Amino acid sequence: MGFPVPEPFCWDVSFRTFYTMVDDQHKCLFNGIFNLAKDSSDDSLNELQRVVGQHFLDEQRLMDTSQYAGKAAHQKLHDDFIAVLAKGNVDIDYAKNWVVNHIKGVDFGYKGCL
Ligand code: FEO
Repeated sequence: MGFPVPEPFCWDVSFRTFYTMVDDQHKCLFNGIFNLAKDSSDDSLNELQRVVGQHFLDEQRLMDTSQYAGKAAHQKLHDDFIAVLAKGNVDIDYAKNWVVNHIKGVDFGYKGCL
């Protein structure tokens, strides 16, 4: 269910939020999961955790700055995904679906509001 997951797993213009920093960071999330799928090493997982953590912090900062009303609920979703990654042994299909559906189903809600 939900939005279709691109294969190969790469960002495309259908994911565009029109915030340059956000779009660039979303590309890094796609790359991080793509790389973890190819190489399930600790290094790949650590890199994915790093780019995810940085993106969520920056995105939440944008929401703070613009006093975006949906910030608390949005941050809870971020925290839950961070917790999944922190457990290790990441289900790649889950991660792909989460990122695709989070961007199109949740992040898109702030388009034009930040
Ligand atoms: Fe772009 Fe809410 O993550």
